[in-house]
Amino acid sequence: MRLDVIGLGEVCIDWVAFVERFPEPDEKIYSIRMEKFPGGVIANFCVGAARLGLRVGFMGGVGRDPEGEFLLKNFQENGVDYSHTKVRGDRGSAVNMLVVNREGQKTAVIDPNLYNNALDPDELDEEYIASSRCIHTSAIKPRTAEEAFRIAGRRGVVTSVDLEKQVVETDPETVRRILSMTNILIPNKMGARRFTGKEDLVEAGRTLLSYGPEVVVITVGEDGAIVITREAVERVPAYRVKAVDATGAGDAFAAGFIYGYVVRGWDPYKSARMGNAVAAIKCLSPGAQTGLPTIDKVREFLGERGEDLGI
Ligand SMILES: Nc1ncnc2c1ncn2[C@@H]1O[C@H](COP(=O)(O)OP(=O)(O)O)[C@@H](O)[C@H]1O
Ligand SMILES: [Mg+2]
Repeated sequence: MRLDVIGLGEVCIDWVAFVERFPEPDEKIYSIRMEKFPGGVIANFCVGAARLGLRVGFMGGVGRDPEGEFLLKNFQENGVDYSHTKVRGDRGSAVNMLVVNREGQKTAVIDPNLYNNALDPDELDEEYIASSRCIHTSAIKPRTAEEAFRIAGRRGVVTSVDLEKQVVETDPETVRRILSMTNILIPNKMGARRFTGKEDLVEAGRTLLSYGPEVVVITVGEDGAIVITREAVERVPAYRVKAVDATGAGDAFAAGFIYGYVVRGWDPYKSARMGNAVAAIKCLSPGAQTGLPTIDKVREFLGERGEDLGI
């Protein structure tokens, strides 16, 4: 089967405690509500792309435990191919703990198994990667992403990176080599600033572009996105919505952008509008995946705003 996109990276469970306020050290407080959500930057991206109707595969790992079963079932229910998702007998699935207060502010503690369960370079399957038009990764294990991109380059597969701050801090040299093999780079503000040391986002974007990508799209939360190419810099504003939870907004954006840019062959500006729309709709529901829209839902959302992307 020919895939539209493969996601290479992390999958986890997010346990979220919704609270009135953050507890002090030594203090115990009741939550308003606690809820378990499927999460992980790349797993969210995969579910987002599949909801839009793309053929999607996920490459990563879960533990051999009930959480792992829950995460695989979630892929199955969303039509994401998980034939290359490793079930690890020697480690548990990653379970992160998040606390969200009334203002929607968030603190998080990440399970190291998020990293540990990600694939190692020798676990990559060249033929599987070559069966897809595009590979999108968070580079959580930079050496694995580097090897995957070598394969992609050899086999004519488009490469895309969602760059977040933590990855930049673990292994900047490998990230530089990855960027030299990257077609599409989608960092958030913090990723772009941390990697370049430049506060100004346009300057940061131009620097990132000089490392290799053909297009850099910096997502800037409720301000939307900045698209930087060798020809131009353009700001593409976000849609105004009553956001209840922005967790996974960047992952939703990437799904919409790849849908437009890679699969439909749109220019990066139109693709960024699609990314903004998918992400804005996601923000209307709690959790990283609950609100990820179908293509019909995106059409309806845009139609209500007098816009038509021809989808
Ligand atoms: N409050 C919001 N209202 C509307 N859209 C939003 C809001 N927050 C985020 N988005 C959308 O989500 C995208 C990604 O958000 P951002 O916070 O930049 O990424 P990340 O979630 O990776 O930190 C933005 O480019 C925008 O399209
Ligand atoms: Mg992000």
